[in-house]
Amino acid sequence: MNQRAIRFYDDHPAPATMLEEVLQGLASRPRRIAPKFFYDERGSRLFDAICELPEYYPTRTEMGILESCADEVARLSGPDGTLIELGSGASKKIRLLLEAVRPRRYLGIDISREFLRQSVQRLAHDYPWLEVQAACTDFMQDFELPGGAGEGKKLAFFPGSTIGNFEPHDALAFLQRVRRLVQPDGALLIGVDLKKDPQILHAAYNDSAGITAQFNLNLLLRLRDELGAELDPQGFRHRAFYNTARGRIEMHLISRRAQDIRLLGRRFHFEPGESIHTENSYKYTLEEFHVLARGAGLRPRQAWLDSAHLFSVHYLSVVSRSRPRAA
Ligand SMILES: C[S@@+](CC[C@H](N)C(=O)[O-])C[C@H]1O[C@@H](n2cnc3c(N)ncnc32)[C@H](O)[C@@H]1O
Repeated sequence: MNQRAIRFYDDHPAPATMLEEVLQGLASRPRRIAPKFFYDERGSRLFDAICELPEYYPTRTEMGILESCADEVARLSGPDGTLIELGSGASKKIRLLLEAVRPRRYLGIDISREFLRQSVQRLAHDYPWLEVQAACTDFMQDFELPGGAGEGKKLAFFPGSTIGNFEPHDALAFLQRVRRLVQPDGALLIGVDLKKDPQILHAAYNDSAGITAQFNLNLLLRLRDELGAELDPQGFRHRAFYNTARGRIEMHLISRRAQDIRLLGRRFHFEPGESIHTENSYKYTLEEFHVLARGAGLRPRQAWLDSAHLFSVHYLSVVSRSRPRAA
């Protein structure tokens, strides 16, 4: 593959930060480690494999919706702007929009450095007319758009229902941050998983091939290999269930026996059955999501659903602040 030059910005989301966050998370009750730490190169590949699983309806459902709404998205957004994909991963879904939307520039943002590099390189090769940029950064922190990406009209794209990984107050803060990134005349196209029969959800996060389990357990391999933690990855198992009261799938790593994790001279003891909470995936109704979006200063302009109402894609535009009236 001929490689086109790509502007690659690296904020170096650092192992030091990971170490600090993991130490805090293991010391807290309940114990928790943020899902962003799933994603090293192996984690990103495992997530990509999850997207292909028969039980994992979100990816194929969202892709079907994007295929059918691409022209309408193009009409709403207009051409020649900058398309900013947050948590771009394999940058596959964006391909369903590019020919219709015809942006001038694409900026992929992800925390998984090498996977991001490879994905945008493939994109640049396949779309020679598109200016491609990438930024390896943690989108949970405040960040500036690099280079020319801050200029002109902007459409942010946040697929995969990654918004569901945030606690509702963090989701609100994130949407506010996105609004600031794309203001004054930009918009956000976002994929949001819907509330549904818990059995469908249970199957999606407990696949029979055990890929989601590998993805969850990959976190422990990162702690061992990157942070030097002393632990036995076989000593934990994957658990995912739908918490009806909270409207979310929860993923946990459950200790199979009494054991310790040692990290940086500290000892974290686990009794059999004790858990590390690794991910939430909140599910929304359309109305719940619209309330969240409006709270962040984004106006729901259009929502598209699949025929079984499993998944939704929303086009939200920035609500311009009304100017103070002249006296
Ligand atoms: C659920 S996957 C979705 C991937 C892809 N967009 C899709 O829809 O299939 C979440 C993506 O966001 C990235 N990610 C997760 N937390 C992040 C963070 N805090 N900052 C930047 N990227 C993050 C992961 O590396 C991963 O590519």
